[in-house]
Amino acid sequence: MTSFNKFIIKKHLKTSVFGKNIYYFKSIDSTNSFAKESPLKKGDLVIAENQTCGRGRKGKSFISNKGGIYFSAIWETEENFDAGVITTLSAIATAKAIDKIYGIETKIKWVNDIYYMHKKICGILCEKSEDKIIIGIGVNVNSQKFPEDIKNIADSLLNLTHKRLNPQKLCTEIINNLEKLLMENSLSEHMDFLKNRSIVLGREIKVLSPKGEYFATALDISSSGELIIESNGEKSILGFGEISLKI
Ligand code: BTN
Repeated sequence: MTSFNKFIIKKHLKTSVFGKNIYYFKSIDSTNSFAKESPLKKGDLVIAENQTCGRGRKGKSFISNKGGIYFSAIWETEENFDAGVITTLSAIATAKAIDKIYGIETKIKWVNDIYYMHKKICGILCEKSEDKIIIGIGVNVNSQKFPEDIKNIADSLLNLTHKRLNPQKLCTEIINNLEKLLMENSLSEHMDFLKNRSIVLGREIKVLSPKGEYFATALDISSSGELIIESNGEKSILGFGEISLKI
């Protein structure tokens, strides 16, 4: 643990819930796994500069090299808890923070990826564990090299903007936004942003569902963040659970 970096994070946090306890690691297997295995409480943060076993959705790995920022923020589940809404709010909070710090316009790939210049720069994995919800966010900030198999689809903000900014500063900006949005717990005022920044709306997508793969057109996003699609002339709504998209 490095108190210096923890100090930078605390200094920039403007939160009342997040950051009461900060677990800061130079390297860890996965901040989400640590959060799952530890008796953490609402507001606790687990932050790492590097993950050796970063996890993505559907059991995929998330490359988490040094230079990025990887963290899990703990929220509690309430009766009206909706994982999809929390994931969507997290994506909005993250996109807005990156935009502000870098002066750019990021895009959101429904529901949990942030893109810039057609490259994935951030992934979000929200997991429920007992009565807590673990919001895991990984941003490729200053990482420079990506493995051969993903270098055409993922990149870092440094490579794409040529700006080398402080990952901890970005992290605190995201957490500040995240707390505000989670407290408000309402998607409605962010719908315009969400739709404007969507890279799937109006496009042909491949839906990867447990029942198989099929093509569809992404028509709209519902008021609760679900994706409205049309396939073979039939409209349907995609929930967040098992579905992945290819565009
Ligand atoms: C995805 O791309 O499918 C989601 C990636 C989520 C990565 C973050 S990094 C912090 C947290 N810890 C993990 O192991 N995963 C999430």
